[in-house]
Amino acid sequence: MKTVQKLLLSLPLLLSISFGVHAITEGGDDKYKPSVGQEGKDVIWVPTSAELVMNMLKIAKVGPSDLVYDLGAGDGKIAIAAAREFGATAVGIEFNPEMAALGQRNAQRAGVSKQVKIIQGDIFKEDFSKATVVTMYLLPELNLKLRPTILKMKPGTRVVSHAFTMGDWEADAEIDSPAKGYFWVVPANVAGEWTLSNFDSQGPASLSLSQHYQRIGGSLLIDRKSQPLLNAKLTGAKLEFTYKDRNGNFRTAQVTINGNALKGDDKGGYLQNEFTGVRR
Ligand SMILES: C[S@@+](CC[C@H](N)C(=O)[O-])C[C@H]1O[C@@H](n2cnc3c(N)ncnc32)[C@H](O)[C@@H]1O
Repeated sequence: MKTVQKLLLSLPLLLSISFGVHAITEGGDDKYKPSVGQEGKDVIWVPTSAELVMNMLKIAKVGPSDLVYDLGAGDGKIAIAAAREFGATAVGIEFNPEMAALGQRNAQRAGVSKQVKIIQGDIFKEDFSKATVVTMYLLPELNLKLRPTILKMKPGTRVVSHAFTMGDWEADAEIDSPAKGYFWVVPANVAGEWTLSNFDSQGPASLSLSQHYQRIGGSLLIDRKSQPLLNAKLTGAKLEFTYKDRNGNFRTAQVTINGNALKGDDKGGYLQNEFTGVRR
């Protein structure tokens, strides 16, 4: 399917263009009037509906401590809503200079010009590594091109895409209404062999982890006996798993990964134990 067709498929949504976030003149202002479907550098301009903007920012739990980057910002509506409705600081990167300037005027009209910058730039050149939340409405192939950069971002960074997926990186959650959206949390890199200290009072322990994005498998070696990890779950830098201890009791470990080091606590019954680990 052609690029233009893919984006225009979501056009019915655009009929609900009433912005909810008034003060922004969708359709432009006296200085610049963009038209829906107009050419952009890598993708045309089609705005996300106000309702979906809200749902995208809600699923990412955007709040005042967030720095939101909208990649391909159009008239700035996602960045503006992030600031106005959720108290965040936001940056929109938009290639078209007239569009970027309109976005900045929209931010001014919405009363959030201190928290929102719509900058003219190329999403493949600008540095957005400081974002805590990344939003986008691009195309599948552009998402895939951005994916390596996104996966290098700080674990825990939230990512929301209107309409398009990230290839074989499965979404953590989806939005179904008023249009499709996908949500991911950037996972820490955890794969490998970890030596644990103080995990088991009676002997050495190690953790072997395999990883496909946020999907984790592996085993725990306690006293040379291997135990599968049960219900292993990785969310950003937080790893949780259940295992059977040497007495056959289920215990749950909660671990924070920090590069090649980890810290965790391990709970079961009345006993709680703190442990550390390093990647070999
Ligand atoms: C589908 S629109 C989405 C606009 C806005 N994010 C929204 O959801 O309402 C994509 C926008 O990306 C811009 N764009 C295309 N290629 C770009 C690039 N390489 N860098 C920055 N912006 C780009 C287009 O000009 C257009 O405004």
